[in-house]
Amino acid sequence: MKKKLLCALLCMALPAALLSGCASDSSKEPDSDKVSDSENKPDETDSPQDSEADSDTKTDETASDDEKKKIALSMPESTSGRWPMDAANMKKALEALDYSVEIQFAENDPKIQEAQIADFVAAQADCIVIAAVDAGSLVSVSESAKNAGIPVIAYDRLLMDTDAVHYFVSFDNKGTGTEMGKAIAEEAGLEQLPEGEYRTIEFFMGSEKDKNARLLYNGLMEVLQPYLDDGRLVCKTERTSFDDTSIADWSQEKAKQRCENYLEGYYMDEELDICASASDGLAYGCIAALQSAGYTDQNWPVISGQDCEALACKNIQEGTQTFSIYKDTRILAERCTSIVQAAVTGTEAEINDTEQYDNNKLIVPSYLCLPAVVNKDNLQDVIIDGGYYTADEIESAE
Ligand code: BGC
Repeated sequence: MKKKLLCALLCMALPAALLSGCASDSSKEPDSDKVSDSENKPDETDSPQDSEADSDTKTDETASDDEKKKIALSMPESTSGRWPMDAANMKKALEALDYSVEIQFAENDPKIQEAQIADFVAAQADCIVIAAVDAGSLVSVSESAKNAGIPVIAYDRLLMDTDAVHYFVSFDNKGTGTEMGKAIAEEAGLEQLPEGEYRTIEFFMGSEKDKNARLLYNGLMEVLQPYLDDGRLVCKTERTSFDDTSIADWSQEKAKQRCENYLEGYYMDEELDICASASDGLAYGCIAALQSAGYTDQNWPVISGQDCEALACKNIQEGTQTFSIYKDTRILAERCTSIVQAAVTGTEAEINDTEQYDNNKLIVPSYLCLPAVVNKDNLQDVIIDGGYYTADEIESAE
């Protein structure tokens, strides 16, 4: 991690070297033969190799790096398993179309991210793809990209308060929440509870600066609120609102502290049965708190997550995390690549949502991919046989 941070800082400090960057060091290259067979795989016509737009945008096979169109990727952080993998998948898909790709990780610092994007603008990138740390803090730098004629695409996290964003590509974030809620209800057996019985639950939601976090919460509560209302779920802290349960920066450490506080303050004479955790990182925090509070496999709670990071998959196999919401970043990368193609060539990208993603300036045309639940029953099939991770990658995850 230190190496990645140093790399990010060096790239910050050396704008001249900016577009020659950190990508290869910071990114995990997936196996080049891995192909997803998931139902939300983009149409064949969208696949980078087959797209009609290829012939318009693909540069000459012999083009030097200087002649290639430059796509800049601004990712929020390199410390979670998810974002380096997103970046690596995007890089692979874009390079297959002969773009040159530069990647920066902002290590969860909005100011670093803003400066990195400003450098991308100064270096005249042909398109900038941004997964924001703080969705509302990039208004002015997005404006300068717009003024420089550079299309901006919001990747998985919406950019707020700007009309300089062309498209948003993500997973269905509210759908992620409803899938999570349904899986929690099922794993906790809420429908089968005898009259008068209940399960205790606490909520660990994502960053208030990330619109995805609130959408996930809305979807989750659509499913779980009726159980809270009829008493089959009991939240002893009474912290059930998004504002009361969101965790700054999606921080694992803060989730751990919060879970420790809950366990000490509210669960000394009654066990916590469910941690509704909005991401794998937050789940790791809850797991650590539960372990130090002495929970064992005899009374281990249901714990949710999101992203199917390799470590989460290991935890699912070992039983410390119950399930995760799988968002195949290969599919997102392919979809984003075809949107980049459209943005760079000035054609229209395929979208499937024109309603949900209002960023206070416009409803951003969006393409939303479908998430899926992964638990111990389907992990082998979906994740390992599906080529997302090898069994070894999961075993060695830490
Ligand atoms: C993404 C999640 C991720 C979270 C923390 C969210 O914006 O939608 O997939 O778990 O950020 O990185």
